[in-house]
Amino acid sequence: MEKMIKIFDTTLRDGEQSPGCSMNIGEKIEVARQLEKLGVDIIEAGFPASSRGDFNSVKAIAESVVNVRVAGLARALKGDIDTTWEAIKGARYPRIHTFIATSDIHMKYKLKKTPEEVYKQAVEMVRYAKSKCDDIEFSAEDATRTRPEFLYRIVEGAIEAGATVINIPDTVGYTTPDEFYKIIKGVRENVKNIDMADISVHCHNDLGLAAANSLAAVKAGATQIECTINGIGERAGNAALEEVVMAMGVRKDIYPGQNRINTEEIYRTSQLITKITGVEVQPNKAIVGENAFAHESGIHQHGVLENKETYEIMTPESIGLSKNKMVLGKHSGKHAFESHLKECGYELSREKMEEIFIRFKELADKKKDVSTEDIEALIDGTKEIKDK
Ligand code: KIV
Ligand code: ZN
Repeated sequence: MEKMIKIFDTTLRDGEQSPGCSMNIGEKIEVARQLEKLGVDIIEAGFPASSRGDFNSVKAIAESVVNVRVAGLARALKGDIDTTWEAIKGARYPRIHTFIATSDIHMKYKLKKTPEEVYKQAVEMVRYAKSKCDDIEFSAEDATRTRPEFLYRIVEGAIEAGATVINIPDTVGYTTPDEFYKIIKGVRENVKNIDMADISVHCHNDLGLAAANSLAAVKAGATQIECTINGIGERAGNAALEEVVMAMGVRKDIYPGQNRINTEEIYRTSQLITKITGVEVQPNKAIVGENAFAHESGIHQHGVLENKETYEIMTPESIGLSKNKMVLGKHSGKHAFESHLKECGYELSREKMEEIFIRFKELADKKKDVSTEDIEALIDGTKEIKDK
């Protein structure tokens, strides 16, 4: 049987930490319901101890969704764990996600604690969280800059104390696919009882490698990926859910696992996040950007009109779009132009078509995009065409 890769969505927690991406409680519930439809395994609904508003949202989400696990984030502190448990205990499947930093730089300057103190606190707090909830995720914050021997030790201690999921975050987006593969492999080979827990990864995108690093981790044996819709999140964001899921789907030959995502809900979910946060995705963003399924050059358009697979490695329908887009611009060729005219209901003689195509190319040299209205104007030759 193929192994299952769990998709842990943190749009409502890490994603909301993205400047300009905060959401109100009603919006968060709407997003949570859409994430449930999308088929994510876990929704990280927020960080209940961070504010009263977050507590209320996490509680409301826990009580609004049914078929999905709801996680709440807590520092490895009794107070945070108590508050988180209060917020999530109404969920059908609750999870406490507790974390502490494990890199030398974080322990020394942020926590001002020795490694021994951090180890003790992590283990005690996982045990404490376990006394409230069966499902406990432990994160070693800044794991990719943590000394491997310390990482193995603290992860082993967390599993002994009852953690069901071990998360290895690349908190500052510092690692690379080759290195991260080795880190995950190292955890698998050096931690006693590692098979009793899921290995999760949580990659930030500071070097633009979050999706690639997550996939390398899957190859090394990770069974949970933490990600966000549109890749929103702290600083340069998190691994984008749509990218890791579609990469695993398109390259099943390399990533033979399965996941529960209904990919046809991807585009709708992306649009919902854009609508709610007001933060647009860049046009060339993989999978969900406006140009992700658009073809402009004549060579590409010709190829796609003959056989979509010439330039499309996945179908627009697979992410919930109705079709691809042929953009008429200065690189477009006759094939796309004729096909567009046919779609608009024009049946022109060969001669007329040639004539209009020449005029279209002249116009396309002056304008970024040529609209259907511009083409209509070319055809009836009467309307004025305004340059952009
Ligand atoms: O980036 C990070 O390390 C986090 C942890 C809290 C998992 O967001
Ligand atoms: Zn993070």
